Amino acid sequence: MLAEPLQIGPLRLATNLLLAPIAGYCDLAFRTIVREWSTHPAGIGVGVGLACTDLLSPQGLLRGTATSLDLAATNDFDKPVGMQLYGSDPDIMAQGARWAVEHGATVVDINMGCPVDKVTKKDGGSKLLTDLGRAVEIARRVVAELEMCALSADEWQRRTGNSSFPVPVERAPVPLTCKMRLCWHDSDYASGNACSPHLARMLADVGVTAVTVHGRTTEMKFSGEVQLPGIARVVEAVGEQIPVIGNGDVREPEDAVRMIRATGCQGVMIGRGALSTPWIFRDAWALQKTGKLPQAPGEAEIVASIRRYLDLMIETRGVNYAMVQIRRRITWFAKRMMWTDERGRLVGVKPLKEAVRNARSPSEVHQRLDEYLAGGLRGGSYEAEEATA
Ligand SMILES: Cc1cc2nc3c(=O)[nH]c(=O)nc-3n(C[C@H](O)[C@H](O)[C@H](O)COP(=O)(O)O)c2cc1C
Repeated sequence: MLAEPLQIGPLRLATNLLLAPIAGYCDLAFRTIVREWSTHPAGIGVGVGLACTDLLSPQGLLRGTATSLDLAATNDFDKPVGMQLYGSDPDIMAQGARWAVEHGATVVDINMGCPVDKVTKKDGGSKLLTDLGRAVEIARRVVAELEMCALSADEWQRRTGNSSFPVPVERAPVPLTCKMRLCWHDSDYASGNACSPHLARMLADVGVTAVTVHGRTTEMKFSGEVQLPGIARVVEAVGEQIPVIGNGDVREPEDAVRMIRATGCQGVMIGRGALSTPWIFRDAWALQKTGKLPQAPGEAEIVASIRRYLDLMIETRGVNYAMVQIRRRITWFAKRMMWTDERGRLVGVKPLKEAVRNARSPSEVHQRLDEYLAGGLRGGSYEAEEATA
């Protein structure tokens, strides 16, 4: 239903919109940016209801490896936060879930959708869609572990950070969600034999509180069109029992509304759309609430957001990380930076992107952004840049 905040187990989110995990992108700095846009004074107050860490290795967390700890880092502003685990061993996943709860998770999620070889070769991610027994056993073990480390009402209050929304009045476990694709093989989907409706039902029966469905098969990876009917079938199967969160190719606020209408899903998760448009949550929520979009941010606001993102990355992960990331990420931000020239053509910011990619220090990035705001570093066809970005 439109504009209905999503309930995940005991947790009532501020909205029905979620930031997807995107390995290498949705770090603490980026989640902070998305949350800041969601409480932006120009917005209508809220946007993102839940943001999730990128996929985390439970073994890495339990061993305390630096990379895993960096990826799992969170803070008081970053709430409520989901922590996503991947793997195939039920006991290790359960221990990883306990670690997540002890380190600030408000939701634990199991990755059942990653198509990348590194993950599927070890039977994790979407490989679980080919072994439903194992997928359910992992969920059952994790639910049992989460029950054993249930949080007090005070701790719930701290973790939701939003007293205007109801939180549990007594001890309650951190809810478990699972994120899946439609099924592994295209042929199973085409013949009406996708496993996701059946899997979602079995997961709900062992205590999973919501499922996210990326409307593609594993074989599709990230190409081809998202199959909204496939998401709708999961809603039909399990929607009365637990909420279904639809995911895939939501690039504009209107896409979120379309997905809710076409599938009946109760939540929408946005990944790549948020990389170019971190204010998409604010806009998609406003559109649902009022039927209207807030005014689009001006270029000064977008530039301020890029500067803020750079500063946050330096603060959380250091200068080297921040420089590597800003050189990659400028391409995504630039997708929303364009203007119309005197002949009415849409012009992009190719020179700015090149200048940021060649910058050797944060201060040089800031100088280039200053030059841009002063009217420089513009040019190149916008459509061409969009296509190659
Ligand atoms: C580079 C990249 C990394 C991703 N990493 C993860 C991940 O760590 N965990 C996960 O569940 N999904 C991951 N995904 C999938 C996204 O969460 C999402 O399901 C997918 O991109 C479709 O949604 P979108 O079109 O809104 O991006 C990743 C996707 C991309 C493109």
